[in-house]
Amino acid sequence: MSLLNLKKFNIIVAVSKDMGIGVNGDLPWRLRKDMKQFKLLTSNAIVDGKKNAVVMGRKTWNSIPKKFRPLQNRVNVVLSRNLSDPPPGADYLCGSLEKAINLLSQESIGDQIDLVWIIGGSEVYKEAMKSPQCHQLYITRVDSTVECDAFFPAIDSSKYTKISLPNIDETEQEENGIKFKYEVYEQTNISEN
Ligand SMILES: NC(=O)c1ccc[n+]([C@@H]2O[C@H](COP(=O)([O-])OP(=O)(O)OC[C@H]3O[C@@H](n4cnc5c(N)ncnc54)[C@H](OP(=O)(O)O)[C@@H]3O)[C@@H](O)[C@H]2O)c1
Repeated sequence: MSLLNLKKFNIIVAVSKDMGIGVNGDLPWRLRKDMKQFKLLTSNAIVDGKKNAVVMGRKTWNSIPKKFRPLQNRVNVVLSRNLSDPPPGADYLCGSLEKAINLLSQESIGDQIDLVWIIGGSEVYKEAMKSPQCHQLYITRVDSTVECDAFFPAIDSSKYTKISLPNIDETEQEENGIKFKYEVYEQTNISEN
């Protein structure tokens, strides 16, 4: 499929001061406000009658509590090189990020999909950020140095610029004594489609 026909996608992540995103297969923190923001952003399709898609690695899928899987009102795509069938509840299984974006861009499926969100983990984020289809990075900066074993890659400042959006409150938030704030970055040379 040509680049012109491929869907763009956004990344969403919450990172510690050291760019940590997870520990022992779970989130390092419990921030209900941030989870709410995640649900709102990833669920809200702008185009009426369409759904958004969430694309994630197999371990991120496993990290979602069973009662919350699949993520409601979103098309759930799981990436794995080893599984042969989608995990129970997931909509699609793909062997690579490229295959996932191709699938979600196919006319029959893509016509019903609005925004595509990449929701982790480390390797998927890294590959996604290198793609010319990666549009915006929605980052929650968590003011914490908690120990992590999964990390978000460095943001290439020659490619991504910080922007302000009317729907994103940039003021400092706090929950359970943990401070955090929202940032959005945009790829400057993104392909125009
Ligand atoms: N803070 C946040 O915003 C956030 C977001 C997401 C996740 N997390 C945390 O991050 C941790 C999970 O992330 P992780 O980095 O360890 O794992 P992950 O990326 O979610 O999953 C890794 C697995 O996904 C599959 N995979 C990854 N990239 C692939 C690709 N390009 N093509 C095909 N398959 C691919 C492979 O599965 P197979 O081994 O089956 O081949 C790989 O072993 C958890 O602690 C979770 O709570 C945090």
